[in-house]
Amino acid sequence: RLEKMWLTFGLVMLFVFLGVLGVSAFAMGLQPPSEHHHMIDPTKVSETAPFDKPGIQKVADKEYEAVMVAFAFGYNPDKMEVPVGSTVHFTVTSQDVIHGFEIPGTNVNMMVIPGEVSQVSHKFTKPGEYLILCNEYCGTAHEYMATKIVVK
Ligand code: CUA
Repeated sequence: RLEKMWLTFGLVMLFVFLGVLGVSAFAMGLQPPSEHHHMIDPTKVSETAPFDKPGIQKVADKEYEAVMVAFAFGYNPDKMEVPVGSTVHFTVTSQDVIHGFEIPGTNVNMMVIPGEVSQVSHKFTKPGEYLILCNEYCGTAHEYMATKIVVK
């Protein structure tokens, strides 16, 4: 009788151990493969960090982080400014449909997909007003969807 109790106890411990192993393997498997595209809930963009506070901020000398939300038909923030020679890390998501994110005259050109976070960095070496345009058809006012970054 005592033997049976110990056997049961042993089996329970074995299952607990296997369970812990399984759960940790599962959790590790769920980790995003890279920073490039991780998932967020597109219906909760305005409550999800960092998109609850769109804007541009300095993170180091001549280095900026721009958190942006694309929507039909515009981008938030609607204007940004950085000094010449700055590298800007753009982190962008969409709160509705697929939009584009293109800065003509640079190699920045990416899709912004609802539920995903898209990231691209660019160093602005020449002063000027750079338009950020939507190049994915997203509705009636698609061609007016733009924002700009002033480099001076
Ligand atoms: Cu947004 Cu086209």
